[in-house]
Amino acid sequence: MSGNLATINPIFIHNISAKKITKSILLRLNAKMSLLKTSDIAFIDISSFALGFELEAWAKLKGHKLFAKSICDDKIRYAYQKTYQEYDTVFEQKDSNFDTWLNTSPELLNAPKYFGLMPRGCFVENSTPLYDFELDNKELIWAKNVTKLYEDAKNNQWNASDIKWNEIPDLAPELEKAICQVMTYLAENEFSALYIPAKFLSKISPYYMELTLFLASLINDEARHIEAFTKRACIKGMGLQASSSITQRSLYSLFIEKDYFKTSFLLHILGEGTFLDLLEFLAKYAPDEVTKEIVLLAKKDEQRHVNYGLEHVKSLITANPKRVAYLKEAAFKRKAYLDEMSGESEILIDALCVIAGGSDEKAYEEGYKRVSLMKQKMNENRIKRMIYCGIDELSAIEISSAHTPNFM
Ligand SMILES: [Fe+2]
Ligand SMILES: [Fe+2]
Repeated sequence: MSGNLATINPIFIHNISAKKITKSILLRLNAKMSLLKTSDIAFIDISSFALGFELEAWAKLKGHKLFAKSICDDKIRYAYQKTYQEYDTVFEQKDSNFDTWLNTSPELLNAPKYFGLMPRGCFVENSTPLYDFELDNKELIWAKNVTKLYEDAKNNQWNASDIKWNEIPDLAPELEKAICQVMTYLAENEFSALYIPAKFLSKISPYYMELTLFLASLINDEARHIEAFTKRACIKGMGLQASSSITQRSLYSLFIEKDYFKTSFLLHILGEGTFLDLLEFLAKYAPDEVTKEIVLLAKKDEQRHVNYGLEHVKSLITANPKRVAYLKEAAFKRKAYLDEMSGESEILIDALCVIAGGSDEKAYEEGYKRVSLMKQKMNENRIKRMIYCGIDELSAIEISSAHTPNFM
């Protein structure tokens, strides 16, 4: 005997009756030892002394300390003490009950550096590689509604293949062309709404898994929007129309922003927020029910994206109101870049006027007035959203007036 078993509660883990210790027996032994804590004592029974050499060699290799060895009935019993822990801290487990899932959020304010591509709640082996995710700070990325939004996203999925495309009537060529132009513009903007969060997704620690899942759902939403708008442009044969450099410059200025907080503000609140008003406008003046339906389905998805941005930015500003200065700087830097080629996309505004009014002179004039009213409403709602986030009214007015005439 090389220890005192009376003081420790040993755990029987395995009985080896085979004639030799095979690879499968070692696999089983290792798996059972890995479940024990440091200092735990494990009993292993073997049926012959010959097996003892193999067992002792295995234990030496693995670093298990021989605590005792005895003959017990017709068995030889080894007691090994575990000397190290392969698996580190257990982080909080996700509850399988979905009611509590919705009400929990990650406890740690910084994701552990060794937290890799795994769900929160795993036992993490000590030798795991360091991923070093850039976005590993809860305050900088989290929003309190993110789990709820993910649930909403799952419950509101739709399939562009289920749209009754063949029910779209033949429209006057000028009106169909205007619809196709707007659909082209929408699809371009949807690409930016897909690529930009995707750019950041791989930088977010999976420890904040609810956000990872929500952003994945958001990216899938944008893919569906691209598909639906592209299909609408092509379904009647008119096809995709022009992509203006003004639109592309606006999207590019958003695409190159490296800061997640600023991007969340520019994309989700200013960009997608403005898009809510645009989509509502298009639903109101859509010439057919199918076009109206796809625009409204997209709008419902966009509302979730905006809601994430609102809570995310609001929580950051609540934690530190000086952060409003960063947002102002981001909005004005973007404006300075876009001012080099100022103005709005004339091809887009023209198409919107045709859709909202018509193509003859008087109707077009009416369409123009409606588009102007929409722009006013966009401005008012941008200001309201910023005030909701904790931005003072004056700054909100300044930022809104600096927002890109491209809407996104
Ligand atoms: Fe979208
Ligand atoms: Fe979106």
